[in-house]
Amino acid sequence: MLDIESRSGKKVFIETYGCQMNLADSELMGGVLAGTGYGSAKTLDEADVILINTCAVRERAEDRIFGRLTDLLRYKNANPDLVLGIAGCMAQHLREKIIDQAPYVDIVVGPDSYRNLPAMIDKATGEAADPVLDLKLDKAEVYEGLTPKRRPGISGWVSVQRGCDKFCTFCIVPFVRGRERGVAPSEVVRQVREMAEQGYKEVTLLGQTVNSYRHQLPGEPETDFADLLSMLVPIDGIERIRFTSPYPTDFTPKLIETIAREDKISKYLHLPAQSGSARMLEMMRRQYTRDEYDKLIDDIRTAIPDIALSTDIMVGSPGETDEDFIQTVELMEKTRFDFAYLFKYSERSNTYAARNMPDDVSEQEKGDRLRHIIELQESISAEVFKQEIGRTRRVLVDGVSRRDENDLAGRSDQFKRTIFPKPADREVKPGDIVDVRITDCTSHTLIGEYVESK
Ligand code: 5AD
Repeated sequence: MLDIESRSGKKVFIETYGCQMNLADSELMGGVLAGTGYGSAKTLDEADVILINTCAVRERAEDRIFGRLTDLLRYKNANPDLVLGIAGCMAQHLREKIIDQAPYVDIVVGPDSYRNLPAMIDKATGEAADPVLDLKLDKAEVYEGLTPKRRPGISGWVSVQRGCDKFCTFCIVPFVRGRERGVAPSEVVRQVREMAEQGYKEVTLLGQTVNSYRHQLPGEPETDFADLLSMLVPIDGIERIRFTSPYPTDFTPKLIETIAREDKISKYLHLPAQSGSARMLEMMRRQYTRDEYDKLIDDIRTAIPDIALSTDIMVGSPGETDEDFIQTVELMEKTRFDFAYLFKYSERSNTYAARNMPDDVSEQEKGDRLRHIIELQESISAEVFKQEIGRTRRVLVDGVSRRDENDLAGRSDQFKRTIFPKPADREVKPGDIVDVRITDCTSHTLIGEYVESK
């Protein structure tokens, strides 16, 4: 839910599914609507407009949203004037199915049409016969000049890139979010400065393949992702800069050097591998080989010894054999990621894989493989967390511990949840960056004590 100041009688409730880009897009929609006088609804009951910002990356995400739409029918029945909208990737992907299965939906809006939301809501309120659709993909739209309605806090997002040009064979994103485009550096700097003024301490730059970012104005030199980071580092007030998700082949030596050099840039990288099998990587059209991925990890760890790494892995992709799967297990054992996000392949219509590669790994086999690597990663993560004991880490405090309000909580530079008792002789509050010596851990949390910074 977004906290939009009440500026008119009408109130909107935005519910978000999927990735961080969607959370940022919901804040963008909140900004567009706040700019035209909409207030924010604290609950679904008091909403005049409900928007569901959706995900299409796996079938399960879409099934969940269809389930949610059935729940929401009761709000439509209770309030016939309620405007119910479906936004985002699934809106783009499944417009017909949505209209067919949930004919009471009033608005279907794709990721490039959020500027039109106020007009669409007006139209849906006026006529209310057929759903109002806007699903044009616009290769120029980067929402420049709009200020997202961000949740107040320590940490916020800025989308610096929209769309994707990679066309991995399994992935729906290029079809629902269109071609890759970068936001002008001046616009990114403006937003980050504004966030610093509002008291944000951490900014996360978002893009589908964020490190392929590039932007060029006529007659000027091109800005690449390392340049963009370097432009943000001097902004006072911003203490930590993160970004997600980088794409393996878009890591330049210059980018690695920039991360290594700048204290403000978080020492945590999410590097989706998808598979450890060279054969599968080729079938997925990932544009890197297994050897190249291994070398990239080596280069990063050599240049930035303190780096924490995470990855995305899919099991059961078309044609994946036991031997391919063993390669994935071997990759995980060798690389020892700090975290991993693990998925079963889910066929997405329109993708190259859906049109050309039978979904031939059985559900049973996908389940078995997934369970195997979940267990493996749990034990690796537990060991990696234990290795933190005895180290001193910089923690950005973001609140108090859920278990004990005498404990502060935050994330280390390596993005690990860390809790420590409030020091007796010094005030430490959310937004502060402090040194914490790690003394213990649970499977997903570090426990430590405040130490005076040197
Ligand atoms: N099925 C399962 N997982 C997928 N992902 C992307 N497309 C699919 C799909 N069709 C996963 C990838 C990606 C993450 C965001 O979601 O691992 O990195």
